[in-house]
Amino acid sequence: MERTLSIIKPDGVAKGIIGEIIKRFENDGLRISAIKMVYLTKKEAEGFYIVHKERPFYNSLTDFMSSGPIVVMVLEGNDAIRKNREIMGATNPKDADTGTIRRDFGTNVEKNTVHGSDSLESAAFEIDYFFKSLH
Ligand code: CMP
Repeated sequence: MERTLSIIKPDGVAKGIIGEIIKRFENDGLRISAIKMVYLTKKEAEGFYIVHKERPFYNSLTDFMSSGPIVVMVLEGNDAIRKNREIMGATNPKDADTGTIRRDFGTNVEKNTVHGSDSLESAAFEIDYFFKSLH
């Protein structure tokens, strides 16, 4: 059993597709073991994406992630990290496979609707960032 962090980004919440996204995870065998809606401050968004702090898109990304409410979830299941990434699709919606969340709902590489942990290490950091008591 593995855990990963999933975020429905401000564009996904604004589009009213929280239920549609959760349905895709559950239909694919991922269980939601924690969930909450939060409205990040700029500082909190910067802390979450600290690994990207030297990247040219860091300021814009953290502005966007603090521009509206987001839904933060812990997904649990066999191979949860890889499975979640498969359901999300490639980072850039225009490269994402048909039927993935980012292909169906994403606008561009920044407004790409969902975030998912990319490794066991980042899952541990990210789950802890939002749900301190879970592990
Ligand atoms: P996410 O999975 O949330 O992790 C980091 C985010 O940075 C990524 O999704 C993208 O939304 C965002 N981002 C913005 N610009 C870029 C870029 N040029 N390359 C990669 N990621 C980018």
